[in-house]
Amino acid sequence: MTRGRFITFEGIDGAGKSTHLAWAQQLLQGMQIKHVVTREPGGTPLGEQLRELLLGSGQPIHSETEALMIFAARRQHLEEVIQPALQRGDWVLCDRFTDASFAYQGGGRGVPKGKLEALETWTHPHLQPDLTLFFDVSAEVGRERVARIKSPDRFEREGVAFFARVRDAYVDRMRAAPQRITRIDGDKSIAEIRTEVEERLSQLWKK
Ligand code: ADP
Ligand code: TYD
Repeated sequence: MTRGRFITFEGIDGAGKSTHLAWAQQLLQGMQIKHVVTREPGGTPLGEQLRELLLGSGQPIHSETEALMIFAARRQHLEEVIQPALQRGDWVLCDRFTDASFAYQGGGRGVPKGKLEALETWTHPHLQPDLTLFFDVSAEVGRERVARIKSPDRFEREGVAFFARVRDAYVDRMRAAPQRITRIDGDKSIAEIRTEVEERLSQLWKK
């Protein structure tokens, strides 16, 4: 049996990941491809508890503690959800993965890249997504879109300068892995982006 495909959705808050992940799910349903939709941090009961602490916590969290909690959730997620699904031959659509740690904890919070690379190697030495869709919007556009949210979480409360650093770190990550990470201009209309997502998914299907 062939291994399923692992597709991740990335971008700063407000870039449109959730909107387009829902579209990708519809496309896979239409193609009758068995798939699992999941997210990070989260995706398992333990991971969702860690997510609540990370997103909702009123108490201070050191930037490296934050990174360790996210990778702890990820290790459990790989074990319980991602690897079993791929081994069954299901595709996995995941709202964020390790690129987000390089972007938010690395770019945003300033955790040294070497430490994040060590955590990446520890947590998933042999696995990378088959395809990463990076929805790219400026920090200002992202901010404007999340400003409509009534109760922003710990990350969404950050300012434009934080999101500009997060975006720059995503771009660095994309330059280092251009075969895997595809940039999609998140400023385009939802209809145009849908077409691009569809093209990318069908290329992966044919591989
Ligand atoms: P994310 O999951 O990346 O934080 P969402 O998919 O929740 O972002 O989108 C944030 C907001 O921006 C939503 O109100 C959504 O309808 C809107 N949105 C998403 N993509 C676009 C787009 N291409 N053009 C205009 N608005 C968009
Ligand atoms: P997000 O995925 O944007 O969910 P929602 O759209 O429901 O707000 O929220 C998760 C937050 O977690 C997001 O602000 C970024 C942050 N995050 C990190 O800082 N590092 C990571 O490695 C991951 C996966 C997420």
